[in-house]
Amino acid sequence: MAQHPHVAVLYTRLRVEEKWIFQALERKGVPYTRIHDGSHWMLLQNPAFWQQFDVVLARNLSYMRGLSMARVLESWGIPVVNPSHVAVVCGDKLATSAALARAGIPQPRTAVAFTPEAALQAIEELGYPVVLKPIFGSWGRMVVKLNDRDAAEAVLEHRAHLGSFHHNVFYIQEYVPKPGRDIRAFVIGDRVVTAIYRRAEHWVTNTARGARGEVCPVTPELEDLVLRAAQAVGGGVLAIDVLEHPERGYLVNEVNHTMEFHTTVPLTGVDIPGMIVDYVLQQARLGIRSRTEALEHPVNVPMAAAMRQ
Ligand SMILES: Nc1ncnc2c1ncn2[C@@H]1O[C@H](COP(=O)(O)OP(=O)(O)O)[C@@H](O)[C@H]1O
Ligand SMILES: [Mg+2]
Repeated sequence: MAQHPHVAVLYTRLRVEEKWIFQALERKGVPYTRIHDGSHWMLLQNPAFWQQFDVVLARNLSYMRGLSMARVLESWGIPVVNPSHVAVVCGDKLATSAALARAGIPQPRTAVAFTPEAALQAIEELGYPVVLKPIFGSWGRMVVKLNDRDAAEAVLEHRAHLGSFHHNVFYIQEYVPKPGRDIRAFVIGDRVVTAIYRRAEHWVTNTARGARGEVCPVTPELEDLVLRAAQAVGGGVLAIDVLEHPERGYLVNEVNHTMEFHTTVPLTGVDIPGMIVDYVLQQARLGIRSRTEALEHPVNVPMAAAMRQ
């Protein structure tokens, strides 16, 4: 195809990642439009403005905004990276755990409960220390380690009274005694493009919380696990967090669908923004091809729809 597809990039706040993606689009000569999620509204019955785009890259910081916009765009047949079915699974830690469990992928032992009393029973069954996390969240916020019953009772009581419904879904994991670091592996399509260790003195190893990045070799074992984890949540552009258990080896901790890479790009020299743009263009072309085929061969509509998956 001589001409590039037209790309829209959704964002909540312009982080360095979005700026690098814009630069990659410009370098490759791709026409694109920046769309601030808070400044737009969508009428489901009128896609006119949006139909100029062949593909939409959702880089929203806000999980609900990204997911909501993806749902509407997809209803108009516009492909979104990552699609809403992937955001639904990755944005909710319990949905991720369930998808990983279904695919038989090793992960920390994980329990869910809906009252402080039941959560306390689950915690005692798992054995201290445990980790309690909100099902929606990032940057390690409100991820806490409970070392004993007193701490568990205090925090559960607190969470129960926070009011918002999702704090009453108690997502509890065994604490994995990892070696002062975790692994973050980056998947784009069917490739693991790079990985880093995130090392910290604290057991929470988010770079947003001050962890340092180190190059992590992608061994065949890590690559295989990470690709299976990506597939289990629906694939796309993903960052997979992996914990190293001293006896059980790699355990997949979570999957992020709007990943940050400001630490990884300078450290590894891997052009993640450029690779994301190439992937987005590829998705646009698949979308254009399936729409054209649907017009030319109306009987093949289900097949064209399947190709978009
Ligand atoms: N079960 C666990 N055992 C040990 N460390 C954990 C566990 N769960 C999370 N962590 C640590 O806490 C960090 C943040 O947890 P994570 O589940 O990734 O939440 P977030 O979405 O906020 O990044 C992880 O990167 C890891 O360092
Ligand atoms: Mg994380």
